[in-house]
Amino acid sequence: MARIVAGIGSSHVPAIGAALDNGKTEEPYWKRVFSGFEKSEAWMRKTKPDVAIIVYNDHASAFSVEMIPTFALGCAAEFPPADEGWGPRPVPVIKGHPALASHIAQSVILDEFDLTICNKMEVDHGMTVPMNLLFGKVDKNAHWPCPVIPLAVNVVMYPPPTGHRCYMLGRAIRKAVESYPEDLKVVIFGTGGLSHQISGPRAGLINSKWDKNFLDNLSKNPQKLVKIPHIDYMREAGAEGIEMVMWLIMRGALNDKVDEVYRFYTVPASNTAVGHIILANRSRAARKSAAKSKRPAGKIKRAAAHANADRVRS
Ligand code: DHB
Ligand code: FE
Repeated sequence: MARIVAGIGSSHVPAIGAALDNGKTEEPYWKRVFSGFEKSEAWMRKTKPDVAIIVYNDHASAFSVEMIPTFALGCAAEFPPADEGWGPRPVPVIKGHPALASHIAQSVILDEFDLTICNKMEVDHGMTVPMNLLFGKVDKNAHWPCPVIPLAVNVVMYPPPTGHRCYMLGRAIRKAVESYPEDLKVVIFGTGGLSHQISGPRAGLINSKWDKNFLDNLSKNPQKLVKIPHIDYMREAGAEGIEMVMWLIMRGALNDKVDEVYRFYTVPASNTAVGHIILANRSRAARKSAAKSKRPAGKIKRAAAHANADRVRS
């Protein structure tokens, strides 16, 4: 059986990709951003997923105002990096996992979530930047460490899906993964955000209080987040802050209770608050031993966390 072992939330600011591609990672401004992902890269190397599902939004690269699916699942064998105006980023073509992706499409659509199936799709910074942050810099002629299934969500044209719909889609994805017969270790990314507004009179808006509260609730109390209406994201987190609903797909695909392995938050990168979190599902063995054990709750929780992943909270 395939299983989702962890969820990763990460901003996908395009300037982070440009800093990496243009050799600026040691400049103090960018070092502050990249250093926050060093432990995550180590965690990912150790976790060694077989497949990553990456929930992201397309920024008028594969789709345009002419056609925007609400949820689009990448079922292709590969996804080339898109030309976003400066030529495609110098990263490897992303290999997909058509068998698992088609299985997810079947399971989720029969569960009444109407996904668009994409058998050919280019992917932009929404996907490639979080991949670099978690998998590190990968030479254009080398390979990403695992296949990736892209899930594109419309957050660029009104109306985007609600947070609740996103969370429930995450639940359906988890059910789909768990009904796949092959033994695969899967991680799921939610990308975008955190608070930011790119244009208009409020350009540059950042709301750290909102962002931190979002991360706290994502970790401990996601049910609070699923009730937040679009207008609150727009008012509090800026027009592009609505990208944060994608993190709820990731959260919905995890257990109700998760272990927060790592968190990082910094302001700014470009015009954006950068947020990052790793949430691990407790392994079945850890859950079982916690249930059996008579030890106090705090100790059980720590033991479970250790059984699943190193605690790397800084
Ligand atoms: C910017 C663009 C994004 O898509 C995003 O999520 C954050 C920032 C930008 O242009 O700075
Ligand atoms: Fe974006």
